[in-house]
Amino acid sequence: MTHIPVAIFVGGTSGIGRGMVEAFAHHVNGNTHIIIIGRNQAAANESIRSFPKPTESKADSTSPDNDLPIHEFISSDFSLISNVHETANTLLNRLKKVDYLVLTPGVSLLARRKETEEGLDEKMALSYYSRWTFIRDLLPLLRKSNIRGGARVYSVLSAGRGDLGTIQVDDLDLKKRHTIERCRLAVSTYTDLMMQKLAREEPRISFSHAFPGLVRSPMITSSRWWLTAAYYLFYPFFAFFSQTPEVNWTLVSFQPPS
Ligand SMILES: NC(=O)c1ccc[n+]([C@@H]2O[C@H](COP(=O)([O-])OP(=O)(O)OC[C@H]3O[C@@H](n4cnc5c(N)ncnc54)[C@H](OP(=O)(O)O)[C@@H]3O)[C@@H](O)[C@H]2O)c1
Repeated sequence: MTHIPVAIFVGGTSGIGRGMVEAFAHHVNGNTHIIIIGRNQAAANESIRSFPKPTESKADSTSPDNDLPIHEFISSDFSLISNVHETANTLLNRLKKVDYLVLTPGVSLLARRKETEEGLDEKMALSYYSRWTFIRDLLPLLRKSNIRGGARVYSVLSAGRGDLGTIQVDDLDLKKRHTIERCRLAVSTYTDLMMQKLAREEPRISFSHAFPGLVRSPMITSSRWWLTAAYYLFYPFFAFFSQTPEVNWTLVSFQPPS
């Protein structure tokens, strides 16, 4: 079994995910197989260039690629569940294990409903459905992790901010009764329930759902013009109550290898 940890960051090209992947890479001095998944190749390349160069060079090894401290990017649009399955299948064929799976893909939860060609709201697809699918698909690799305490799965969204009583059981994907607030409550609740269920079913894997607080990431100014205007108008006030993505990483309970 390989001792080079394998860490996957879906949404590692921006904001909280990028803060986490860069902090992680520095924490392990680059000696990890890091896979960033998203759509923005240029941002991923820039981030990867900032990683320390691995000191444990096994570049001349003939072993499979997850024995190597490679830092790479996989381009995939996770708003489509078919792409999530496809990416997972590629990884199932290539990797022997996954030790860390960090999930932060998303668009602002304040965005209007936008249906993907698969009929899901884009926000819900990215913040819940794609994450559920990817975790389920990668379970065979997560079970094979050989790090102390087992593999870690970490989803950044809005832990504890849902409400079971508001769930529309006859309209789980909110096709009929979508509002921004119902959507926020739904994906928060679904993720809490998903992580609890997975933790019961897979006791050797650690599942966490985190709420990062207010983070000054590109998402804050990407959804509505009035939010962008308010952000710049009240920046000093806003800055007082928020954190940068880099600082935020150190405050969450994601445990990198020691
Ligand atoms: N910022 C906050 O204050 C805050 C507060 C609470 C919760 N959150 C949650 O934290 C998570 C991360 O937010 P953030 O602030 O870091 O946002 P961000 O800076 O906008 O980053 C979003 C990430 O999602 C990826 N993404 C977006 N659409 C995608 C798609 N179709 N396919 C694949 N990847 C996609 C982006 O990558 P590409 O552009 O490369 O595709 C990017 O890496 C979100 O779920 C958000 O709801 C944020």
